[in-house]
This record gives sequence, structure tokens and C-alpha cells, in this order.
Amino acid sequence: MNDSIGRRRFVELGAGAVVAVGAGQLSGCASLATVRAEPRDGVITLSVRNYPQLNRPGGQLKVAPVGSARPMFVIFREPGHYLALSSVCTHLECTVELESNRIVCPCHGSTYDREGNVLRGPAERSLARYETRLTDAGELEIRL
Ligand code: FES
Repeated sequence: MNDSIGRRRFVELGAGAVVAVGAGQLSGCASLATVRAEPRDGVITLSVRNYPQLNRPGGQLKVAPVGSARPMFVIFREPGHYLALSSVCTHLECTVELESNRIVCPCHGSTYDREGNVLRGPAERSLARYETRLTDAGELEIRL
């Protein structure tokens, strides 16, 4: 089957953002699903109820904003609180990879914790964070 619209599920979310999940995108990493998200006025909106992994300790999601070359990581911290981290390594800007308990750069081995803080260099600065806000309706807004 080709990569046609027919292979994708489109989910209309409450604040008008559209997230497209392709079947192939869900299998890129053993446990980390990737969703594509269309920003509206610089904000991505995810309905938390649509992503069970965002409702449990250790939960995480890779989000690929349409129009952006790099994904971001959305990480559950505690009920109602999330982190949205850039995947751009602060050393020389390779794309980092999110593992279960840490974030690793494949280029020179910098390692970050799940909060984006440096555990091991050569990177010296934490991963950039995006501002997040959970609405009363359970919509997670991430400002790019
Ligand atoms: S670019 Fe990530 S450690 Fe060098």
C-alpha cells in the first residue's frame, strides 16, 4: 500500500488543530509513537484523552510539528503537568533520541535526563523547553 491519505487517521481536536497519525509513524521506535501536528497561530494542541501514554508516569510522545524539521518530546511529569522538549542537542545541534529514562545524542554522546538537564557532556546547556498549558477541557497547548 502506498503512503496515501487512506492509510492515515485524522483526528480533529478540540481547539481546531489537526493531528495526523500515519501507520508507519507509529512503528518508528519500539515504544515511542510519533504524531504529526499542525500548529495554529504558533500553538500545537493535543487532546490528552487521545494519548493514553500522556496519562501515566513515564509516559512520553514524539510530536512532529508540520513545517518543522525536528520533532519535540512531550513528557508526562505528574497529573496535569507536562514538559515539551526540543530534540535539538545543545552541543552541535544533532537530533537527540528519547529513551525510557534519558535522552541521548547519537553524535557525541551527550546525555540528558527526562527534564532535559545535562547528565553528561559535551553539551553544557539543557534542552530547550516549549511553554505548555493544559486547558480545563484537557487540551494540551504547546507554544512553538
Ligand atoms: S551534537 Fe549532540 S553531543 Fe555533539
